[in-house]
Amino acid sequence: MCEPIVAEIEASETRRFSADPNEKVEDPMTPKAYSHSPVGLIRLLLVAFLFAGPAFAQTDLNGYWDLQMTSPDGNVRHTYFQLSLRGETVTGKLFGRNPGGLPLNGTYTAGHLHFATVPPQAAAGSPVGTGSTAAPMVYEGTWSDGKLKLEWHRYEGQIVTGIAVRSTREAAAPPAPLPLPPLHDLPDTALVRTPPMGWNSWNKFAGRITDADVRTMADAMVSSGMKDAGYVYINIDDTWEAGRDAQGNIQTNKKFPDMKSLADYVHSKGLKIGIYSSPGPLTCAGYTASFGHEEQDARTFAEWGIDYLKYDLCSARAIYDITQPNQQGIYQKMGEALEHSGRPMVYSLCQYGLTDVWTWGAKVGGNLWRTTGDIRDTWDSMEKIGFSQVAISSYTRPGHWNDPDMLEIGNGGMNADEYRTHMSLWSMLAAPLIAGNDLRSMSDETKSILMNKEVIAIDQDPAAKPVQSLSVNGQMETLTRILADGSLIVGVFNRGATATPASLPWSSLPAGYAGKKLAVRDLWEHQSVAMNGEQYTGSVPAHGVRLLRIDVAH
Ligand code: GLA
Repeated sequence: MCEPIVAEIEASETRRFSADPNEKVEDPMTPKAYSHSPVGLIRLLLVAFLFAGPAFAQTDLNGYWDLQMTSPDGNVRHTYFQLSLRGETVTGKLFGRNPGGLPLNGTYTAGHLHFATVPPQAAAGSPVGTGSTAAPMVYEGTWSDGKLKLEWHRYEGQIVTGIAVRSTREAAAPPAPLPLPPLHDLPDTALVRTPPMGWNSWNKFAGRITDADVRTMADAMVSSGMKDAGYVYINIDDTWEAGRDAQGNIQTNKKFPDMKSLADYVHSKGLKIGIYSSPGPLTCAGYTASFGHEEQDARTFAEWGIDYLKYDLCSARAIYDITQPNQQGIYQKMGEALEHSGRPMVYSLCQYGLTDVWTWGAKVGGNLWRTTGDIRDTWDSMEKIGFSQVAISSYTRPGHWNDPDMLEIGNGGMNADEYRTHMSLWSMLAAPLIAGNDLRSMSDETKSILMNKEVIAIDQDPAAKPVQSLSVNGQMETLTRILADGSLIVGVFNRGATATPASLPWSSLPAGYAGKKLAVRDLWEHQSVAMNGEQYTGSVPAHGVRLLRIDVAH
């Protein structure tokens, strides 16, 4: 009976408070917040006396919380929330990588708390998912004995648990920005003249990646034939980091006991090794990152023998206003640090396409830049990302590549036709081919997709000409790309859920091919196409592709 009354008074006090860390308002959790309103104070004390005890404790969810989740490698991830309870409705913010926090809403019923973030919308006209964390973050928990126990329901069924302790607005607020360098264009490092090919730990392993996994993945890269097919980089993504030593040198956690020896091992296989950091104080998974230590970290990476750095905006997004000069400055700072380190390292920008990174990424020394939010191992995610890239394809060029995120081929969330579409589309886009599956246990089908040399040749074509849209006919979308040797690549994609005839009249091909005697090869069937009619007559499987290489016959 008494709970809602207390909750309502607390909520009404809380409404005076904004969760925007930049806004100067009083914190409802400090006595000072009530001091300028004697009536409010008296009301609060009265209610507290009347309804003191368990009822108060049960509903006192309002305010700031620090959710602490400890990983098996010892890292403690802090996630800050501000919660406001009104009746059974919970509103508030989650503070992390989004400036000003992400709004959240949910319910609190009979001791059970449930809330989820409301993801920001992608800017109109931008490639799908640009700048946004597309999926809501969902939390469930209980409030008892003054303790808030929460489970974070991550995607793909992972659940992480932790205890939230009371915190403050100051603790939740990001650090003050550090000065950014005056903008100037960095020299081209002459690396990756064709899109980088390799493997990255995140899509399959996320926070579970270890030194042993990386070594065995390097072994498998060689023994599976991936290396011969052109895959070179073995990239460790997030969660290798620990804190810093007394001199500020970044440390590895117990999953990675000796990074230098790991790099030596990968190099001994004739491969190259990549690593990951963020311009913020914390990575996206909440591990130590390079904020204020850019030069020092670049030197450390060089000493370890690192060949490739993925630099992921993460917590820096909440520190610097998202403007194009700020984004350029943040990434130039590390670009300069890499340059000063003296070791050539591929520089992979990851800021989800904010402020049209494809227009300035090369200026900061970027070799590739993520153009979207994170890919998922689903048809919907891959299809939306892949087809949205055609519009910005002309920004990709030797040494400087649009990166629509890593491959999901072989991870099990899509069927073989869908994975063939994934591989075909990424290759037509001249996207980096960074496998994200377990190379140690690939099916023959997965191998045939990742190692289709005729398709890889499109991706790696030295001319890197942009992909063009030839036609969109209902769910059928036809893309073309001209290779350095004059071959025309045509991808007839079926975005629909039922098999459909291709309908590609030879007369619809671009000038130089239409009306000519043609030799046509199907790059997934690995055979010539019989030229006995006015048009191509194959059926395209649901969510599948017909990928053709067309040459003028002499
Ligand atoms: C971000 C990136 C992902 C991955 C994770 C690691 O979400 O976009 O590719 O690196 O961080 O935490």
